[in-house]
Formats: sequence, C-alpha cells, structure tokens
Amino acid sequence: MSKEYLPQFYVMLERQVGIALDDTKQYLLESRLMPVATQNGYPDVYALIKVLTQTPVGPLHWKAFEALTTNETSFFRDKHVFEALRKKILPELIENRKKDRTLRIWSSACSAGQEAYSLAMMLREDFLQLNDWTIYIQATDISESILEKAKSGVYSSMEAHRGLDTHYLHKYFEHIEKGAYQIKPAIRQMVNFSHHNLVGDWPFYPKFDLIMLRNVLIYFKQDVKDKVLSKMQQQLNGSDSILILGAAESIYHNDLYKLITLDKISYYKPNTIVKV
Ligand SMILES: C[S@@+](CC[C@H](N)C(=O)[O-])C[C@H]1O[C@@H](n2cnc3c(N)ncnc32)[C@H](O)[C@@H]1O
Repeated sequence: MSKEYLPQFYVMLERQVGIALDDTKQYLLESRLMPVATQNGYPDVYALIKVLTQTPVGPLHWKAFEALTTNETSFFRDKHVFEALRKKILPELIENRKKDRTLRIWSSACSAGQEAYSLAMMLREDFLQLNDWTIYIQATDISESILEKAKSGVYSSMEAHRGLDTHYLHKYFEHIEKGAYQIKPAIRQMVNFSHHNLVGDWPFYPKFDLIMLRNVLIYFKQDVKDKVLSKMQQQLNGSDSILILGAAESIYHNDLYKLITLDKISYYKPNTIVKV
C-alpha cells in the first residue's frame, strides 16, 4: 500500500475538478474511493490511485473524481436566502424584466436538483404574474450520476421532507412506490439539467438574471475560485443581476462584484458590465 502517488493525484484532481485535497483529508479520500477501488478490482485505494496517476484521464478517473464530490443539499436550503428571494430579490428582478417578460436563472453545482426545483416551485407558488413569461432555469453539475437523479425528480421520503413545507410536498409531488416522492412534470419541465464542469470549458450560455453558486467554491483554492467568479461575472445579465453564494462563502478583494447585505443574507451584483 504505497502512498507515493498521492501528491500527483491531488494535482490531477484539482486540475480536472477544482477540488483541493491534501493529506489532512486522507480519511475522506480512503472512504470515498474504497467503493470505486473494490468495484474495479483494485486491492485498495492506493493501488487505484497509482493507476489513475499513470494513465490518461478516462471513465475510471471520472468515477473517482465524482466519488470525491460532496453532494449535500436540500430543498429550500438556507431559508433566509429563499425568503430574501421571495420578498425582495425576485420582485425587483421581475419589475426590471417586465419589458422582456423573460427571467433566466442558473443553479450551478446543483447536485440532485433540490435548489433548482425549490426555485421553480417558488416561482409557481408566489409569482403568478409570471405565468405568461418565459422562465428559463438552467441547472448544472459535474456529476453525471447526480444529474440523472436530478432529472428523474425522485427523492426518498427523507430527502423530500428535508426543508420542504408539507404544503409544497402535497401540491408539487406525487407519492410513488417505496415511500419515494417524485416532483410533478409541470415543475420538472421548468428546469433544464446539463453537465458542466466549473473548471473545464464553458459552453455557450445565455446571460442570467440570477445565478446560484452555493456550497461549491468552498472546495476550491483561491486562484481557482477567482477564475470561476470572473467567468460567472461574464454570465450575469447586466448590473442589476444577482449572484448568490453559500452562507459560508464570500468574495474577498474582487473588483468584479459589489456586496449587497440584506437582513440575514448577503449577495452580489456585478460591478461594471457592458450589456450586449
Ligand atoms: C455541496 S453540493 C451543493 C449543492 C447546492 N448548490 C447547494 O448549495 O445545496 C456541491 C456540488 O458541487 C458539484 N461540483 C463539485 N465540483 C464541481 C465542478 N468543478 N463543476 C461543477 N460542479 C461541481 C458537486 O458534484 C456537488 O453536487
């Protein structure tokens, strides 16, 4: 069981996915990679890591990288954010976009889709005036397997009950077999899920009025964060558009954004943007 390939593996992981690991997280590496090693016939995690560092990046690498992502999420995660969206951020955006009658939202690093579906349900529930608007919700993640789950809209009873008001559960979900719940098609159809690696090539996206980029930058080093934030700024649709990070995340010393604080939350607007 040789650990000599670990430093090379950390570099590879950071380059491909952005996630910064070091020896202080070896317990996490071992527990997350053990199933991948076993399923692929390796005696232990370090034998797998040796092969990964000595072969070109392919499907086995992506299985390992995905296993090292943290997919923790829930419906209406961080209630204060959703309250601010409902009471102030969305009403203002809607007022500003009433000429175009179009609202574009990006749930980036969306995990199993709870954030994007929470937004879709909120728009349907609290903003009836949007019924004849074009609402475009893009939701992206690096993990193909988590995206499959997100697209299915199927959640265990425990997942469905985490953060979800029973009113929403009854109105927007169907109770399917084995105690699982599935989001109704009308809400599922509002969200377009696709693969996107924040540290890879960015495909063409339209400009977004609201971008949620929560609880992913915490896994990246500062230089990687800065690159992602700079690209994100280019995706915002003008100076009144909004970027929301996770509760424990913030942007330091970055002229591209200005911080807005509102009661219990903070969010960002782009500093200067040339609208095209
Ligand atoms: C902790 S979850 C956050 C989910 C959701 N945004 C939230 O706040 O509840 C982090 C997500 O980031 C995704 N992720 C990690 N690295 C990524 C990358 N380089 N590009 C895109 N998504 C990434 C993971 O697959 C995971 O689903």
